[in-house]
Formats: sequence, structure tokens, C-alpha cells
Amino acid sequence: MKGVVLAGGLGSRLLPLTKVTNKHLLPVYNKPMIYYPIETLVRAGIEEILIVTGGNNAGEFLRLLGNGREFGLKHLNYTYQEGEGGIADALKLAEFFADDTPILVILGDNIIESDIRPAVDAFKQNPVGAKILIKEVPDPGRFGVAEILGDRIVGIEEKPENPKSSFVVTGIYMYDSKVFEIAKTLKPSSRGELEITDVNNHYIRAGHMHFEILEGWWTDAGTFESLFRANRLVAEKWITEV
Ligand code: G1P
Repeated sequence: MKGVVLAGGLGSRLLPLTKVTNKHLLPVYNKPMIYYPIETLVRAGIEEILIVTGGNNAGEFLRLLGNGREFGLKHLNYTYQEGEGGIADALKLAEFFADDTPILVILGDNIIESDIRPAVDAFKQNPVGAKILIKEVPDPGRFGVAEILGDRIVGIEEKPENPKSSFVVTGIYMYDSKVFEIAKTLKPSSRGELEITDVNNHYIRAGHMHFEILEGWWTDAGTFESLFRANRLVAEKWITEV
């Protein structure tokens, strides 16, 4: 299974921090943010990785990451997203790289404590449809919120005013190769972006969505509060491990 790190966008929620650099290059405790999702993929056993970046500082990713030797990789692949078309738009750029094989996708600002290898290995056994990792949070309205009936997710709402549960969709997704056909059918949302939630709802309607609850802490880092939280969580983990 191949891995894709989505690190495009303009990071406008973090201005002025992102005025002269890309969000995913900002520090999270002792490493640039993008290190964490790459490490998550490598720990999950992924050896071939594509970085989708964008904005004005795309060249810096190459200078920072090179061929990924620091992560134990032989090679890294890069591609460039023009504009701010959303997560599903960035994902479309991975079609050639995926080459009809299933993919593990992670958002470049998602940082987790645990090892997702068991969940990834289970999907690899039968890589049909999609699988998402969900997490219970105190502020679900900031995210894609899962509506759960029994042991099934029956729908996901993006940033709802009245969340139907406190379980949100983390930025870790596994897809079969049909994902690219689905992405091509999407229309921009009210924020003018192609939403990954629309891709996931497509799989839900087709009855091909699986999920697991992510263990350990999880955070995004795209707002001042969540970036601060990410720094604190990583620092605490690092300090207790030393
Ligand atoms: C995106 C997704 C959302 C998901 C979140 C996880 O939100 O649209 O469904 O819960 O990532 O980090 P965004 O970061 O674009 O606000």
C-alpha cells in the first residue's frame, strides 16, 4: 500500500505565521509539522510516499525532506497543488502515483500518539472500499462529524452547527483505487473546496465504508489553539519518553 501526505493549502487560519512559509513547515515542538504524518506512515509500514504540497514555498519541502533518508525511506515523491481547491482536489493529484493500488492518506497537520499499523494491516488484507479512523472529541463542530447507528457510520457532516455525535473523522483515510473516480464527480462546497467528507459519504452510501476508533491522543494543528495543543502533546510525550 502506498501513502499520500496532503500538505497543500494556504494555511490562512494561521496568518501571519503562514505569510512567508507553509503551515506544514511550522515547528511542532522539536520538528517541522510534516515530519509527524510522514513518521505515522513509515511506522504503519508504508515505504512509498507522495507529498502533495502547494502555495509559495513548495521548494522548501524538497530542501527539508530530500529523498526521505531521515525517515528510513529510499525515495520520496512530490507533486504540486495549484490554488486552494480543498483536500479532495489535492488527492486527485495522487492518481498517477497510486497506479490502481489502494492508498493510505494522511493530512499534513494531523499528529497522533499511537501506531496505526494494526488498522492499516487489516485494510490491506481486504482493500475494498474505504476505512476511516474516528475519535471522540469535546469540540466536534470543528470537524467532519460521524453519525453512528449501531455499528455503522450512516453519514458524515462537515463542521455542523448541531453535531449528531462527538465522534469526528480524523485526517487518516484508507481508500481503494475507486477514490479517484469518486473525486472527479465532486462539486465545490460552500467554502469553495472539494471536500474529503463528500468522498467519504459516497463510500457510505455505497455501503463500502469501514471504521475504527483511533487509540491515544490525536490533534490537528491548523488553528492557533490546535497548533499550541499539538506542541504541548508532543512535548509531553517526548519529555516522558526521555
Ligand atoms: C479536514 C476535514 C474534516 C476532518 C479534519 C481532520 O478539516 O475536512 O472532515 O475532520 O480535516 O483534521 P479542515 O482541516 O479542512 O478544517
